[in-house]
Amino acid sequence: MPQTKFNRRDLVAAGLAAAGLAALSPPVPALGQGAALPLTPSCDGKTAVTRRQTEGPYFTPSSPLKPDLRGDGAGEMLALSGFVLTPLCRPVAGALVDLWHANAGGDYDNSGFRFRGHQFTDEQGRYQFLTRVPGLYPGRTRHFHVKVRAGRGPVLTTQLYFPDEPGNARDGIFDRALLMAISAAEGGRLGRFDFVIATA
Ligand SMILES: [Fe+2]
Repeated sequence: MPQTKFNRRDLVAAGLAAAGLAALSPPVPALGQGAALPLTPSCDGKTAVTRRQTEGPYFTPSSPLKPDLRGDGAGEMLALSGFVLTPLCRPVAGALVDLWHANAGGDYDNSGFRFRGHQFTDEQGRYQFLTRVPGLYPGRTRHFHVKVRAGRGPVLTTQLYFPDEPGNARDGIFDRALLMAISAAEGGRLGRFDFVIATA
C-alpha cells in the first residue's frame, strides 16, 4: 500500500491530530491525549445494526483489559479506532469491545493472550486499539475478530476486513459491509470502523 501524507481531517478522524503520526509508536494511551474527537457519523435513524459473523474456532474468553496488543510481535502496526453507536447514531459509552486476531504469521495464541484484548468505549463512545496487521492463514482472507456488547444487551460477534485484499474475493465468509476504512500512515496503518449495536 502506498504511503500518503495525511491531512488534518484524516488525523482528526483517527483521533490522532494532537499527537500526530508519531502516536503510532508510543503506547496506545498516548493516542487519546489531547486529541480531537473523531467526527460523529450522521444518521437518519435507519442505520442497520452491524452484521454478525461466525466467532470462528479461536475465541478465548476473559481477555485482558488493554488497548495495546502489539507486544513484541512482528508485523506492521495498525491503529484501529471508531465509535460504538446505537441505530440512532447515539454514542454508547462503556461498551465492551473485545478484539482477537492472528499474528503476522497467521497463527492464533490459543494458550495465552497475545493479540487478544478488550476495552470499554469512552464517554463519546470511542474505542481504539494499537495492534499489528494480522497475517493470513489457509482458507481465510485477512481479518480481525470482534465482540461488542453494551451493558447486558446482546453480544455482537463479527469480523472486520481490509479493502483491496486479494483474498476477499475467495473467502466465502467475507462481507463488504464489514470493511474497515484503512489509510496508510508513516510507521503503520490507520483503521476505522464504527459498530452499530442493539442496546436492549
Ligand atoms: Fe480468524
